[in-house]
Amino acid sequence: MAANDKIRLGLIGAGGMGSGDAGYALSLPNVEMTAISDIYSGRLERAKERWGSGLYATRDYRELLARKDVDAVIIATPDHWHSRITIAALEAGKDVYCEKPMVHRVEEGLKVVEAQKRTGRILQIGSQYVSSLVFEKARQLLEQGAIGQLNMVEAWLDRNTALGAWQYSLPTDATPDTVDWDRFLGHAPKRPFEPVRVFRWRNYDDYGTGVAGDLFVHLLSGLHLVTNSLGPTKVYASGGLRFWKDGRDAPDVVLALLEYPKTSTHPEFTMALRVNLASGTAQEQFGFRFVGSGGQMTTTMAGITLNRTPREVAPGNTISTFSKKVQRDFLDRYQKQYPAQRPDADSMRPLSEERYTPPASHNAHLDHHKNFHAAVRSRTPFIEDGVYGFRAAGPALLCNLSLAQDRAFYWDPEKMRIADGAKK
Ligand SMILES: NC(=O)c1ccc[n+]([C@@H]2O[C@H](COP(=O)([O-])OP(=O)(O)OC[C@H]3O[C@@H](n4cnc5c(N)ncnc54)[C@H](O)[C@@H]3O)[C@@H](O)[C@H]2O)c1
Repeated sequence: MAANDKIRLGLIGAGGMGSGDAGYALSLPNVEMTAISDIYSGRLERAKERWGSGLYATRDYRELLARKDVDAVIIATPDHWHSRITIAALEAGKDVYCEKPMVHRVEEGLKVVEAQKRTGRILQIGSQYVSSLVFEKARQLLEQGAIGQLNMVEAWLDRNTALGAWQYSLPTDATPDTVDWDRFLGHAPKRPFEPVRVFRWRNYDDYGTGVAGDLFVHLLSGLHLVTNSLGPTKVYASGGLRFWKDGRDAPDVVLALLEYPKTSTHPEFTMALRVNLASGTAQEQFGFRFVGSGGQMTTTMAGITLNRTPREVAPGNTISTFSKKVQRDFLDRYQKQYPAQRPDADSMRPLSEERYTPPASHNAHLDHHKNFHAAVRSRTPFIEDGVYGFRAAGPALLCNLSLAQDRAFYWDPEKMRIADGAKK
């Protein structure tokens, strides 16, 4: 494709995020939407209202994939369809922007990675934090030693609203005529028509991936960029359904601990992740705290706050319980090793808190689509390809398995497989 050639897009799954993705994609130059697929006719209608009545529309994504006027697809269906439609699209010769999490189950990951390799098509996963300038800046600061030696990372995403807890609106016309229930279910267990499962699919493990696949994935995608990491070696999660007892089976409070091995730039560190959908906070809160021997760096989408704490020169002492003679000997040696500095004006340092904010015009989500279009035109995949996507999704989904089976899981971040036994 030449740099200015038009990209003809197909959208599969035209709900909240699919429509948002399409909006970003269409705001970029030389892109047009030619086809759309959704199993709910209301969303097909709405897509035509938005993007023109000439749009080809179908309930069957395979018909969209068969079209010659579609170069690339955005896949924004519920999670249980991601790997199947992605593989079918790659095999149909399309480039793919697939929403996160890349897969619904861990065992699907390597199949997607293999399909990307085999077909040579562009595949990008939709965790936009990977295109965020904030995370790139955090990566640079960490690499420059801004907080000394990294040893721990905390990340959290707290919400406290019905919509934040996935209680999305049900359309008034949802019937078996307007919703293709069998096509929604796909390979999921068969059951009678139930609109709440279509429109609030995140709440059910048969279609969604809980807070781990929905939200931990974002945090892990960002973390892996900032720390140049391939992923953790051990995952343990705890939590449960504490507040939103509306028939869902997905927990609303999950805490996870992940052990990360040495990366190309940092020593081993421990990660503590938290999502609480009934957090008691007035507004959604999201962030990372990177903890190092020389300071802390807090990162949100709005920017970075860096607090540096120089390490003490003299370690201090605890000698008062020793005999007077030992105290004298100790102080004698101590004062030779750490001669007292006479404080002067030079020894005063400002208590530093540095802030870095991205330019007001920066939008990571838009840039993520820009990066996809650049990859489609140059045939060079963006960093968040199938391998990157699975290295975030795999450990996130292990949090669900850990919670369900009440045990820790070991993971091989290079081979992207569940590993057995103790840490290597
Ligand atoms: N990157 C982000 O920040 C972000 C934010 C929200 C959602 N997402 C991801 O986007 C995806 C969609 O989430 P959403 O909130 O838009 O959900 P949604 O329910 O609003 O939209 C999903 C759409 O897919 C349709 N669909 C279901 N099965 C289909 C099939 N077999 N073929 C075609 N269409 C089908 C549904 O009818 C619906 O219109 C999820 O995987 C989610 O994790 C990403």
